[in-house]
Amino acid sequence: MMKLRLSTAYITAAVLLSVSAQCPDYADYAKTPQGNPSNGALGLPFMRPEPACRTFNSTAVEKVIKDMKARLKDPDIARLFENTFPNTLDTTVRYFKEAENLAFIITGDITAQWLRDTANQFAHYHSLLGVDSELATLVKAVINNEARYVAEYPYCGAFQPPPESGLSPSHNDWADNVLVNPPVDNQTVFECKYELDSLCGFLKLSRSYYNATNDASFMNDNWFTAIEQIFRVIREQSQGTFDDNFNFISFYNWTGTAGALSPMVNNRGNGEPKAYTGMVGTHHRPSDDLSTFAYLTPANAMLSVELTHLAGMLDATGQAQNISQSAKEWSTRIHNAIWNTTVREDVFAYETNGFGGRYVMDDANVPSLLSLPYLGFLDKSDPTYIATKNVLLSNKNPYYAKGANFRGVGGPHVTPWNPWPMSLISTIYGTDDDDEILQSLYLIVNNTAGLGLIHESQSIYDATQYTRPWFAWANSYFAEMILDLAQRKPSLILKDGKSYTPA
Ligand SMILES: *[C@@H]1O[C@H](CO)[C@@H](O)[C@H](O)[C@H]1NC(C)=O
Ligand SMILES: *[C@@H]1O[C@H](CO)[C@@H](O)[C@H](O)[C@H]1NC(C)=O
Ligand SMILES: *[C@@H]1O[C@H](CO)[C@@H](O)[C@H](O)[C@H]1NC(C)=O
Ligand SMILES: *[C@@H]1O[C@H](CO)[C@@H](O)[C@H](O)[C@H]1NC(C)=O
Ligand SMILES: *[C@@H]1O[C@H](CO)[C@@H](O)[C@H](O)[C@H]1NC(C)=O
Ligand SMILES: *[C@@H]1O[C@H](CO)[C@@H](O)[C@H](O)[C@H]1NC(C)=O
Ligand SMILES: *[C@@H]1O[C@H](CO)[C@@H](O)[C@H](O)[C@H]1NC(C)=O
Repeated sequence: MMKLRLSTAYITAAVLLSVSAQCPDYADYAKTPQGNPSNGALGLPFMRPEPACRTFNSTAVEKVIKDMKARLKDPDIARLFENTFPNTLDTTVRYFKEAENLAFIITGDITAQWLRDTANQFAHYHSLLGVDSELATLVKAVINNEARYVAEYPYCGAFQPPPESGLSPSHNDWADNVLVNPPVDNQTVFECKYELDSLCGFLKLSRSYYNATNDASFMNDNWFTAIEQIFRVIREQSQGTFDDNFNFISFYNWTGTAGALSPMVNNRGNGEPKAYTGMVGTHHRPSDDLSTFAYLTPANAMLSVELTHLAGMLDATGQAQNISQSAKEWSTRIHNAIWNTTVREDVFAYETNGFGGRYVMDDANVPSLLSLPYLGFLDKSDPTYIATKNVLLSNKNPYYAKGANFRGVGGPHVTPWNPWPMSLISTIYGTDDDDEILQSLYLIVNNTAGLGLIHESQSIYDATQYTRPWFAWANSYFAEMILDLAQRKPSLILKDGKSYTPA
């Protein structure tokens, strides 16, 4: 997920604008209210593209929209659900060929496939994969395309269209004059920042597909090669910077030469020194921003959870017992290291370095500390989580900001005074308290700048100032949360108060 690159993002998006000549660029479309307003107090507009401009049709998705529209109490929430739930399919499927088992999914206003974003862009459709075989085929094709990327470039997070698609690669200004070692080919890679959670996204998409369909046919040679590469990264990036004799080996490094827009990773592209803890280091955060310390707690939490799922999936299908064994060992090692080395006075640090250095903060992108229950790492009633959440949603967190109408957690990616709605969604997943849920929910609903879509960030000073008009992941995460509430807290949002489960 990347920063709103001012005008460049739109130029990039325009290059591959394809669906049909009559279809508007959704990045522009999303900047002004389009269809009829809802009957709610906010009168939020209908923002789905014309049917002919939608990039994938699913009857199962349409049924969920119809069901939920009939059940949701508040017409503004119903309108937001109607706009956001189909957004990934309506706008981001840039290429899909079943016969090739390949699909290319863009993030929204940036024409590239991010491993992290796609996993999240499809997370709210998982329960439908068992009933909509075409949708399942699409997700399987996404997994296969990503398996090829990860097998070749396990250190990279954002990619160009597959050559079979005939789509031209798009230029990334932020990768100009950047030197990555081992080097990458810019026809395949859009950006090669090393972000541990990108690999977790690939694992999550794979196991969610398997869980919903019971179909293991995605485990082809590409996929196993990708899994082996993930273990290579885990082994390489869990090592301390120096051994006992101060020998130093760099497996991957990122530097910028003069003119590079992205700041280089310090220490010649290797990051801050780290000592072994059992966790796996990263260079950049899920926001694509530079890490302060290498051991990002929430990314390690997600990795620990996903490795357990990977082992379960391999065991259930009787495959690759050695990989399953490694996955279980690493999952436990990482889990213990998180609890043993990142918690002090009952509060998790966001980042640590293994030397005692710790940074107490949170960043809005998932995986974040606020999202630990969503990730499946711990229960929302865990006392350490509750104590950490209280710190993060207060001025003890440097990236918490509060204005008259909007508040939440942001990050250095936009500015500290631009919290992200995504942080409020994670907060809702982190509580069973009705008042806290409704407060967070209405902070999101009231702050779409009247556009009926979920944005990247929103200024606490000015309700009209937001970033990223078209951000598919944020739309998906919102819809996923609404479906979760429809099951977990139906009386808060549904007319009949009865729990609703899609499919
Ligand atoms: C989706 O359905 C509409 C008709 O309702 C059609 O015009 C459009 O081409 C379909 N999109 C795809 C990707 O098949
Ligand atoms: C790939 O790199 C070459 C050499 O720097 C450059 O000329 C070209 O524009 C780049 N292609 C893309 C798609 O960025
Ligand atoms: C960068 O990484 C490469 C391996 O890809 C390594 O050979 C080289 O020594 C590293 N350079 C630095 C300055 O760490
Ligand atoms: C899917 O996940 C659920 C909940 O964890 C589990 O009970 C079920 O066995 C899983 N199904 C498959 C096919 O893995
Ligand atoms: C599993 O075993 C295969 C050979 O049977 C080997 O190539 C691979 O590296 C092993 N993987 C792990 C994670 O141990
Ligand atoms: C780390 O945590 C595990 C499980 O909580 C515990 O068994 C182990 O002794 C701890 N190790 C250290 C070095 O504290
Ligand atoms: C949302 O807006 C409504 C109507 O203006 C207002 O009553 C409510 O307090 C707002 N909720 C939050 C959490 O800002």
